[in-house]
Amino acid sequence: MSAPETARRSLALSASAEPRFWWHRLPRSNYVPPIFASLSDDEWQLMEDWFAETTRQNLIGECVVPIMSLLHGVVMGSGIQRIVQLGTHAGYSSLLLGFYLRQMHARHGFFCFEIDEPLCRFAREWLERAGLAEVVRVELRSSLDPASPGLARDYLGGAPELVFLDSSHEYRQTLNEIEAWYPALAAGGLIVLHDTSEFAASFDVTGEGGVRRALQEWRKSHPEVEVISLNHNVPAMETPGMVYQDFCGVGLIQKPV
Ligand SMILES: C[S@@+](CC[C@H](N)C(=O)[O-])C[C@H]1O[C@@H](n2cnc3c(N)ncnc32)[C@H](O)[C@@H]1O
Repeated sequence: MSAPETARRSLALSASAEPRFWWHRLPRSNYVPPIFASLSDDEWQLMEDWFAETTRQNLIGECVVPIMSLLHGVVMGSGIQRIVQLGTHAGYSSLLLGFYLRQMHARHGFFCFEIDEPLCRFAREWLERAGLAEVVRVELRSSLDPASPGLARDYLGGAPELVFLDSSHEYRQTLNEIEAWYPALAAGGLIVLHDTSEFAASFDVTGEGGVRRALQEWRKSHPEVEVISLNHNVPAMETPGMVYQDFCGVGLIQKPV
């Protein structure tokens, strides 16, 4: 895509008053983030259409530019071609990571779980429309179904190198997901968890401490594993003084070899 066209599309996001585009209105965000700059014209047009349709149907629940940028950098910087996602929603990260995997010539590179049938159908339709049917699969199934790790492995042709956990935000489910997926992860692989901050703990409808507490407890019981949680203590929808801009936080688990 030409530079002026890329800048025009990016400016349109900054000019929008929709809450979901908050990152694009930050004072330092006067550039095109690589997660979008790397898209072809057709791919970005599809994302614009997807944003319009999900706004129209009120299907807003996707992750945001800072964590997508982290995933984009880790995946494209290291040639990662076997990815699992726990929690797909309407398909934002499935589409974007699908585009990156296609740029890397991957097939059967991304296996995503979603428990909500209408959301699963919606995401599948958009992936089909994006021409990503050979790259990404959305499975209508719980991430905690005992069959899930085996299905992902079969589709990917090996153990996942990266698991992106972005599902219920509940403490107990998240702890169970880490325990179910850590053994399934390739040695040297990564689990990336969204919503590890104090603020995001408020998304836990059970009121038990959310992803933040799950990661904290898992870390304590696995002192041999490298774990980091960015913006862990951020309590509200702002990040004063913090370099990482997502107030929801992100956690990283690296499985040793
Ligand atoms: C925050 S949204 C995911 C957003 C997505 N990662 C993105 O950026 O586009 C969380 C989704 O997880 C799904 N979910 C919750 N528990 C789940 C489970 N056990 N297995 C699969 N999906 C689950 C919910 O239905 C919801 O659609």
